[in-house]
Amino acid sequence: MTFTDGFTYRDSVLTCDDIPLTDILRETKTPVYIYSLRAVLDRLEQHRNAFAGLNHHVCYAVKANPSLPLLQVLAQAKAGFDVNSRGELFRALRAGADPSRIIMTGVGKSREDIEDGLAAGIGWFNAESASECRLISEIASAHGSTATLLLRLNPDVDAGTHPYISTGESDHKFGLSAADIRSLAAQASWLPGVHIGGLAFHLGSQIFSALPYREALRHLMRTLEDITPLLELQHPVIDIGGGFGVPYEEDGESLDPGIIAEMLLDLLGPQSDDVTLITEPGRSLVANAGILVSTVEHVKPAHDRIFLVLDAGMNDLLRPALYNADHGIVPLRESLGTVTVFYDVVGPVCESSDTFARRYPLPELDRGDTVALLSAGAYGASMSSTYNSRPLAPEVVVLNGRWHLARERQPLEDLLRGERPFTAPEAPRA
Ligand code: LLP
Repeated sequence: MTFTDGFTYRDSVLTCDDIPLTDILRETKTPVYIYSLRAVLDRLEQHRNAFAGLNHHVCYAVKANPSLPLLQVLAQAKAGFDVNSRGELFRALRAGADPSRIIMTGVGKSREDIEDGLAAGIGWFNAESASECRLISEIASAHGSTATLLLRLNPDVDAGTHPYISTGESDHKFGLSAADIRSLAAQASWLPGVHIGGLAFHLGSQIFSALPYREALRHLMRTLEDITPLLELQHPVIDIGGGFGVPYEEDGESLDPGIIAEMLLDLLGPQSDDVTLITEPGRSLVANAGILVSTVEHVKPAHDRIFLVLDAGMNDLLRPALYNADHGIVPLRESLGTVTVFYDVVGPVCESSDTFARRYPLPELDRGDTVALLSAGAYGASMSSTYNSRPLAPEVVVLNGRWHLARERQPLEDLLRGERPFTAPEAPRA
């Protein structure tokens, strides 16, 4: 389990920061997400070190894991944030983020998103269409403020990742073509309340090769050269998004952002001192710092297989159902016998897609035994839902040998929050 940061077996029990997870489960029950904040901070430091030769701001992509204590420790470590909605902005500000280090990204910013961003005084807005530039200009000039825009380039580069999480090709909804960026830059002086500060791209997620970044960077630099005289950009900002791939299995690969930093230094040459670089890592900071712990509800032999029915389902961790993603599964107690059984590991939700793994080797397990679904720190809780009216799972953070309940299990009453049933027994007449 070397690839999962911060979780190790001690005395045959899985621990986080020396805390046996069985201690935490006694209070939280399962399913429960557990995150090692030490692991997140270590990954942040590694990421920063990789780009240390450049003027670099790291803006953590909140969508990967928006848990408040996690955002708090990142804010304390002076990370910036990439927010994709006013909801994520609200969370980042609650966690104590420095607004000047916040970038608002996203292809469909609403008036409310933009208004909240301007009111908070965020550092940058990515802009992905002429329509969005006009809307930001209209709102900013009405507020008497100036928004700094980074135009998102669609470099038409294949990132070689799952099609659902690939974002840099010309048939994707994201970003602007180089031609559109040139024409927007030429019109920029017509747009009051906005200042174009540089260019951005984001190629997708879980990328393992530096080559797509190189291709996209070349494209970005050419576009930047074209627009620099139009805008008198002396200190451009270059935002290369996130996407840095991480392993989901023992001995799996990861993408070293240091290679991308070297490429950038090479491409920029002496200009590198004048450029500010933004990166927006999400998954690479948090994926392997989190697990989802679940209890075996039933062991169900069927005609040609054995189902291990867990108390966690696709509503808690959607990635296997949505992307066919593999998450490692380990028992919480390492010493559970020596017989290996190949299970189809499934959840309790009423869909066959509610399957975490097929023919997965585990020690023989029984009802009541607990397992951990690994690499669940990114896009796990953040993509969870109450499908089948199953309450959201609690989340626990561990730091400095202590654990803290970051989110309680959603009470059943909360499932009805905001709902308005009829108060009379019969439905109103039409
Ligand atoms: N910046 C932008 C503009 C993004 O859209 C994203 C992710 C990121 C940064 C962070 O990317 P990361 O470093 O986490 O790869 N739900 C999917 C992943 C969707 C990613 C969406 N955008 C999954 O579970 O694999």
